[in-house]
Amino acid sequence: MRLPARGSLRLRFLAGLLAWVGLGLLLVGLGASRLFHAHVEAQFHDELEVHLEELAALTRLDSEGRPVLERPLSDPRYAIPGSGFYWQVERHGRPPLRSPSLGPAGRLDPELAHQPEILHRLAPGPTGPTMTYGVMRKAADGGPDLHFVIATDRRHLDSVVGAFDADLARWLGLLAVVLLGSALLLLAWTLKPLDRLAGAVARVRSGAARRVGADWPAEIRPLAAELDEALAASEARVARARLEAGNLAHGLRTSLAILADEAEDLMRGPAGASAAAVLGQCRTMARQLDWHLARARAGAPRGGQTEVGAAIVPIVAAMARLHGQRSVSFRLEPGPAAVAAIDTEDFAEIVSNLLDNAGKWARAEVTTTWALEGGAVAIAVTDDGPGIPPAAREGLFAPGARLDEQVPGHGLGLAIAQDLALRVGGAVSLDDRADGRSGLVARVTLPVAA
Ligand SMILES: Nc1ncnc2c1ncn2[C@@H]1O[C@H](COP(=O)(O)OP(=O)(O)O)[C@@H](O)[C@H]1O
Ligand SMILES: [Mg+2]
Repeated sequence: MRLPARGSLRLRFLAGLLAWVGLGLLLVGLGASRLFHAHVEAQFHDELEVHLEELAALTRLDSEGRPVLERPLSDPRYAIPGSGFYWQVERHGRPPLRSPSLGPAGRLDPELAHQPEILHRLAPGPTGPTMTYGVMRKAADGGPDLHFVIATDRRHLDSVVGAFDADLARWLGLLAVVLLGSALLLLAWTLKPLDRLAGAVARVRSGAARRVGADWPAEIRPLAAELDEALAASEARVARARLEAGNLAHGLRTSLAILADEAEDLMRGPAGASAAAVLGQCRTMARQLDWHLARARAGAPRGGQTEVGAAIVPIVAAMARLHGQRSVSFRLEPGPAAVAAIDTEDFAEIVSNLLDNAGKWARAEVTTTWALEGGAVAIAVTDDGPGIPPAAREGLFAPGARLDEQVPGHGLGLAIAQDLALRVGGAVSLDDRADGRSGLVARVTLPVAA
């Protein structure tokens, strides 16, 4: 899995989650351990008190007044030496009675056994610290009192609690892993719409869509709506600017036409040379205007996709009609299925410019073909006209460049076609025919859509 980037929502969430899960599990762990400890300790104490009472109940006095047990204590651990479970009965002036677990030398401190109520505390014992209980009882024969002590090693309690703590830690660790893992899945699921939004914005940028739309979770919907409004506003601004540029160019063009007329008249007078210069400038300016108008019409670079076969048929048909009276035949040889990464209007503009040129210059036939070449689709328009000398070809892509002023035109077609193709990473080129006959092959290559 990818590590979340610095400053990302994912990182924030993860950091918060780690702290939250860590703190939560720590508190749960501490609480559970304490509770368990208290319960186990209470149980140990209860048991010891019961054993102390049992010890007192089982104790008899023999004929000499010595304490003796009627039978062993019910818990067998008091019989195993060093088991950590001990008892002791003392009577002043008589030999003491001790549990077999104490061994020959072991003894318990009888200090707690001088009161009729049961007392307890933590005291040292023969095998480490013990929980010790003591009580004093009157003797049946009216002689000295009996002192009962019972003790259990503290380590027995500690080992039960320790085992529980270890189990608890393992289990909480597992829980932490499960919680974090499921939180990560949850996070991925929650943030999915954001990834989808990024995709939608990318589609708008590439021209595959015009808006991001309204199908979003409530939290993202306002953002998407703002985005779409901003897109609409900028579209409107561009359209207005284009309209104004068109109006401006139109206004200037009319004035330029009048100026050119006047200059033509003046050329016949004494200031003929100057008038010719003015006329030349007027024509240059008119060409510039046409060029910029055409560019403005093409607009901002739009993304988009064009199915070559479907788009090219109507263009060829339209060109055949346009050049109908010259009896040039337009042939289309369908190529492979191909989708070019270019707006359909731009595609039509490029191809119709090439076809228009071919139609103007062809003697009898214009052939259109296309093929896939690497990651591009190449559309070739071949005519059987006079062709163009190789040295002159490069210069014809400049706005206003024309070889023959007799044939009508503005010299903008190739410039526009190249401009549009370059915008999407394509190109336009002019070549000789492969079969060596006179004519020209105008070729446009366009990247294939991903
Ligand atoms: N298929 C062609 N055969 C011969 N000459 C061509 C052909 N296509 C273009 N040309 C030459 O290139 C010039 C520039 O073409 P273009 O930029 O389309 O402008 P226009 O068509 O308005 O003259 C044309 O004037 C012509 O001299
Ligand atoms: Mg042309």
